[in-house]
Amino acid sequence: MKTFENILTELRDGILLITVNRPDKLNALNKRTIEEIGEAVSLAVADNAVRGIILTGSGNKAFIAGADISEFSSYSVAQGNQLSAAGHAVFNSVEMCPKPVIAAINGFALGGGCELAMSCHIRLASDNAKFGQPEVKLGLIPGYGGTQRLIQLIGKGKAMELLMSAEMISAEEALRLGLVNYVTSQDELLLKSIELMNKITAQSPRAIEGIVRCVAAHFKDGVDGLAFEVEEFGKCFGTNDFKEGVSAFMEKRKADFRKT
Ligand code: COA
Repeated sequence: MKTFENILTELRDGILLITVNRPDKLNALNKRTIEEIGEAVSLAVADNAVRGIILTGSGNKAFIAGADISEFSSYSVAQGNQLSAAGHAVFNSVEMCPKPVIAAINGFALGGGCELAMSCHIRLASDNAKFGQPEVKLGLIPGYGGTQRLIQLIGKGKAMELLMSAEMISAEEALRLGLVNYVTSQDELLLKSIELMNKITAQSPRAIEGIVRCVAAHFKDGVDGLAFEVEEFGKCFGTNDFKEGVSAFMEKRKADFRKT
């Protein structure tokens, strides 16, 4: 994988670890960082050596403390639209990534940081993590999908409260609300994320891709999710993964999808 300016990438046993690396700015997302995340994800999708992606932040204080406020302080309406649209394109690519993406949230996940975490398929947090959408303090609303994905994850009532009050919540509260799946100590966050990723990447990659598409279909206007599932289910029967999975079951062995 190429070298980037604001993110670090490291391939560990088939898992690409992407670390947003602007610790002196609490890993705030400037345009360049968002572009780099998008590029790293698209390279990972094309790279057979990558089976899953874990996204985290540098240092032990922040996952990502939001969009870089200093960068857009004098933006016009048109520039604001453009900033949001470009962010959406990247965050959507994370959400629709055919390989599993886990956010390992190691501190503040505010604004765009919370939004990026919500674009990932699964979220784990360390016990010092704090979540919030503080944009209203700045006269803004979330611009990277936060008004939509927060409702999907925690429901309208609580989402409205967080979006309107700018209040931060603890990792434990995020767990209670379903915003994250697990809370660990800071030391264990990456280990637990890798452990979960290994469970997922041991399964059929083609089936995992189908899960990503079907779950996304649920939230798309005008798409009948159940009909979509029928199509995706049918497609599975044409894959080598299906042949390997069923043969392995019959032969009482563990399926090895790496060779399919
Ligand atoms: N954009 C740009 N810079 C940011 C940033 C952001 N979203 N969040 C933090 N930083 C910078 C600070 O400006 C500071 O830089 P400096 O040392 O050059 O002054 C550095 O990161 C450390 O942040 P600081 O505020 O000193 O840390 P803290 O522990 O006192 O407070 C936060 C932590 C997260 C509560 C606070 O930084 C904050 O409120 N950040 C903005 C959160 C936000 O509104 N995000 C949504 C943006 S749309």
